[in-house]
Amino acid sequence: MMKGLILSGGKGTRLRPLTYTSAKQLVPVANKPVLFYGIEAIAAAGIQEIGIVVGDTQAEIRAAVGDGSRWGVRITYIEQDAPRGLAHAVKISEPFLGTSPFVMYLGDNLLNKGITHFVQEFDRERPAAQILLTKVPDPQMFGVAQLKDGRVVRLVEKPKEYIGDLALVGVYMFGPEVFESVRRIRPSDRNELEITDAIQDLIDRGLTVRPHIVDGWWKDTGKLEDMLEANRLVLDTIEPRNEGTLDAASRVEGKVVIEPGAVLEGSVVRGPAVIGKDARIIRSYIGPFTAIGPGVEIRDSEVEHSIILEGASIRDLANRVTDSLVGRNVRIYREPIKPSAYRFMLGDNSEVGIRW
Ligand code: TTP
Repeated sequence: MMKGLILSGGKGTRLRPLTYTSAKQLVPVANKPVLFYGIEAIAAAGIQEIGIVVGDTQAEIRAAVGDGSRWGVRITYIEQDAPRGLAHAVKISEPFLGTSPFVMYLGDNLLNKGITHFVQEFDRERPAAQILLTKVPDPQMFGVAQLKDGRVVRLVEKPKEYIGDLALVGVYMFGPEVFESVRRIRPSDRNELEITDAIQDLIDRGLTVRPHIVDGWWKDTGKLEDMLEANRLVLDTIEPRNEGTLDAASRVEGKVVIEPGAVLEGSVVRGPAVIGKDARIIRSYIGPFTAIGPGVEIRDSEVEHSIILEGASIRDLANRVTDSLVGRNVRIYREPIKPSAYRFMLGDNSEVGIRW
């Protein structure tokens, strides 16, 4: 029986300050945690046993995901003491995985076409490993695979010289042969057990590593720009529906989802956009590619191409908010008092950009 392994530990340094208080895999894309898309993709491929590797944020992940019954799967949590690398996550998961072949999925990755074909192909061919690849314009930023006669012959992490433009996507398939390789490799310069080293070791042992080129888009949501892009890509695919309340002065254009309890007064929402449960949009404009979380209040302001998390409020701003990721319960407002000034209360590693 095939199993699933989702990696949901890590540090998430590139998404600070959000990751000080929350797991990056739970940041919502189109109002749904990134991690849930991965669970759904694995469940859709017919896999019912899923292990989730968790670290410091395990309490939050356990609370959000539960036992998996919502997706018809069984979830086992696997604790990783520190982010010691993707291959380390595989190593500590051996007791859960046993001799089953498995798909490994990075919990902050999104694939629009799912992984069903990828899993079926592996099942048919049963190589030692199968990796998912996509063409990228900047291969020096990725792990890159070199192919020959339909096989992977070499993997190079962030190649300085051009060896090809096929980068590794965050989904992999392995047979039990991988455990010997993760035991054989040594930590890299950044002191992690690298999955590329483990796969290279399989190749060096003379075992077959198959490439599979991804169809459709793939996104790693590890940093702000990618998060916004993932949000854009997913919002483009939504089915419009309105379960909220709009007054006569409000207008909705294009693909927009309005969740139950949301209220729009004197506002314009131009999709694709999603307005979360119990959100209040008052005399405001919500522009394309925006996800407004549950309970958010937008008043006398304009927001577009942004992700606004649960309970945040934005009021009376003179300029449009754009390209932004705003955390839970953040308050942004303008006060008509003198002297005029910026006044901030920001967490460590926050970022404020004022464009004019
Ligand atoms: P990364 O995004 O490579 O690492 P990170 O989460 O530490 O982020 P940053 O670089 O911003 O500090 O990890 C990919 C996925 O794998 C992510 O969902 C976290 C998870 N992961 C683990 O579960 N254990 C690990 O040891 C590592 C390195 C990552």
